[in-house]
Amino acid sequence: KRPIIIDTDPGIDDAVAIAIALFDETLDVRLLTTVSGNVSVDKVTDNLLRLLKFWGKSVRVAKGAQKPLIQIREDASSVHGSSGMDGYEFPAVTYENLIEEHAVVALRNELLESKEKITLVPIGPLTNIALLLSTYPEVKEKIEEIILMGGSAGRGNYGVLSEFNIGFDPEAAKIVFESGLKITMAGLDVGLKALVYHEDSLEIKAQNKTGEMIYALFQKYRGGSLKTGLKMYDSTAIAYLLNKDLFETVYTHVSIETEGTYTKGATLVDLKGYLKKEPNVTVCLDIKQEEFSVWLKEALAKCI
Ligand code: BDR
Ligand code: CA
Repeated sequence: KRPIIIDTDPGIDDAVAIAIALFDETLDVRLLTTVSGNVSVDKVTDNLLRLLKFWGKSVRVAKGAQKPLIQIREDASSVHGSSGMDGYEFPAVTYENLIEEHAVVALRNELLESKEKITLVPIGPLTNIALLLSTYPEVKEKIEEIILMGGSAGRGNYGVLSEFNIGFDPEAAKIVFESGLKITMAGLDVGLKALVYHEDSLEIKAQNKTGEMIYALFQKYRGGSLKTGLKMYDSTAIAYLLNKDLFETVYTHVSIETEGTYTKGATLVDLKGYLKKEPNVTVCLDIKQEEFSVWLKEALAKCI
């Protein structure tokens, strides 16, 4: 089994991605860490704990950064609802899966104590990962690669040119993208095409209890509409991890804009070599849409 750690801010599309990862027979989710993003870190942590209880999974959860490194940012409660995961009535949250360590310390310990290298899958802002790499650079040797949801080779969904996870904490993204680690970016170029339509949602609902829960969340998810397609951004990172053939990629240089008056948080995917810098990121530029949709439904069918 491939060991991974997911850093997340659930988030309705996060919930779908986590479901797939937890029930995939080839993945070993060693730890889940939470970060402020879609809503506050307290709320996203509660959401994650509710999900784990729903699935009866005992994966440990460590709560992470409360704020971006420098920016004061707006959250995405307009997209995911004020709880961050509106739409389904979960039982009251309980805390047996929550460990005491801060996410950054838990990440360090898990990595350093692991025999194998671990793949990191961040599907929220990169604050925790940046703090980890700055505070405990010795962990780099134990990171197999980073497969993240974030960024865009084109336009943004947070600012004109910035995607939410990068725009929320550009300084953190800069630290991660300049780390020298192997990085794959599944950004808006594929996220905007990773769609669930009304018919798909009914199929997902009919599959199992998880499908029913996700269907309920979809009714409140403002990441598109079921008519024109709901965007499964975070599942694209898991899809890349499990099925690279779904993607068209390019290995190129990506810089993070942290200064621009209007462009802060942009990911400059330098397809033509203007910046004269070495490639540092595998960028997902396109996705086979129909195949992704089939894959998503099959992956969710493995849940309870
Ligand atoms: C990203 O922003 C969040 O709202 C989603 O969960 C996803 O991680 C998409 O831009
Ligand atoms: Ca997310």
